[in-house]
Amino acid sequence: MTASTKRMPPGPKGLPLFGLALTIRKDALGTLRRVAREYGDIVRLPVMLQERIFLNHPDFIEQVLVIQQSKFHKSDLTKIIVGPLLGQGLLVSEGEFWRRQRRLAQPAFHRSRIQEYGATMIESVERHIRDWRDSERRDLASEMMALTLDVAVRTLFGTSLPAEAQQVGQSMTFLMRYQLGRQRSPVRLPESWPTPRNRRATREREFLDSLVYRMIDEHRSQAAENHRSDLLSLLLGAMDEDGSQMTPQQLRDETMTLFIAGHETTAQMLAWTWYLLGENSTAETRLHEELDGVLGGRAPEASDFPRLPYLRAVMNEVLRLYPPAYITARTSIAPCSIGGYDFPAGSTMLMSQWVMHRDARFYEDPDTFRPERWLEELEDRLPAGAYFPFGDGPRRCIGQGFALLEAALVIGTIAQRFQFRLVPGHPVVPEPLITLRPRNGIQMTLHARS
Ligand code: HEM
Repeated sequence: MTASTKRMPPGPKGLPLFGLALTIRKDALGTLRRVAREYGDIVRLPVMLQERIFLNHPDFIEQVLVIQQSKFHKSDLTKIIVGPLLGQGLLVSEGEFWRRQRRLAQPAFHRSRIQEYGATMIESVERHIRDWRDSERRDLASEMMALTLDVAVRTLFGTSLPAEAQQVGQSMTFLMRYQLGRQRSPVRLPESWPTPRNRRATREREFLDSLVYRMIDEHRSQAAENHRSDLLSLLLGAMDEDGSQMTPQQLRDETMTLFIAGHETTAQMLAWTWYLLGENSTAETRLHEELDGVLGGRAPEASDFPRLPYLRAVMNEVLRLYPPAYITARTSIAPCSIGGYDFPAGSTMLMSQWVMHRDARFYEDPDTFRPERWLEELEDRLPAGAYFPFGDGPRRCIGQGFALLEAALVIGTIAQRFQFRLVPGHPVVPEPLITLRPRNGIQMTLHARS
């Protein structure tokens, strides 16, 4: 045994068994930042009956996500929280099965293919804001959810959105709160017990299932008539080497994963963008000047992006301050050493984008929205692991290019027509569910730009 195996990272001590769990339940984001400040770069976190290792240094995050990635799997937390809805889809699966599915889906996310989605994205935005009027109030969080859902279904699945899809946002909010509530609760009744919440969770999952199966069916019937090359066609046509196709369950899991992951996070990013621009008029004006100068009122295209550096800086800064994926977890499948400590297989590591992206060692004035910082080659100066809104290593987000294209086209189109101001007194509170959501939505007043 080496000297380091005897040492344990520091951590909160002497808490009653559920003490930290209760603090996390009340204010998870604040607790994570406080713990990082008090205990440092590597912290032992006793939560309920289990212990997690919380990593607050870019080098340690890089060790887990990239350098020693083969010693880690997605964590038991990920599986418990998103597994019931997403099954064995790309976000959760492991090993050879994951590798095969990722290879299969990858062509739909190639740069050239993604750029083909641009026109459909712009069409969706135009249709979505057709009815927006000067001076009206809207919840930008649900508006962005409806918009990104429409974009995902049209581009990735080549079908249109069923009418009931407006309820997807509500369903997801309920399921996220339900699943996290169960995970954080000291008393966990079996899901099969017919409590009102368990029954509602079953109904919401059945609803989402029915949408996904309907899209698959509709796609199949249309695909018979014309040759298609969208993501769903790739999945439907996928064959194993022995000639067998993906089972209906596998197809359902992948489609559900891309359906949910393909719109939910981008919607949060866009909602936080309108909020931050509304609260920071200097940044908003600078963005307007850039867009007006380069585009002059026309819709943006991917080829415009090199001439829109401030737009990119705004997007980077939104993802820094309000990262939709605000925490990432891994469980070790082999012994590993991180930061001079040895950990056995089965150790769960937590890495938080929320905490790391607001660390004053790497970001000056870390809580301030200042897109300009990205124009000063910040990206080149940051150590790997200090900024990871899309994760890192082999499990990095497959949809990063898709999300950034969509966000740039949506912001570039809408910001030329409207600006938004928060309805006075509306409380904006980040709620750390599976993604970082505004708890009460983002109620804003629309102002048409002349
Ligand atoms: C702003 C938008 C987005 C953010 C912030 C985001 C963030 C992330 C992060 C942090 C991961 C890695 C999770 C981990 O390491 O445990 C991830 C994985 C993933 N994302 Fe995204 N994502 C976004 C948009 C999208 C879009 C548009 C799609 C699909 C069209 C997508 C599909 C996926 C999938 C399938 C995975 C799992 C990849 C794998 O493990 O192979 N995401 N995302």
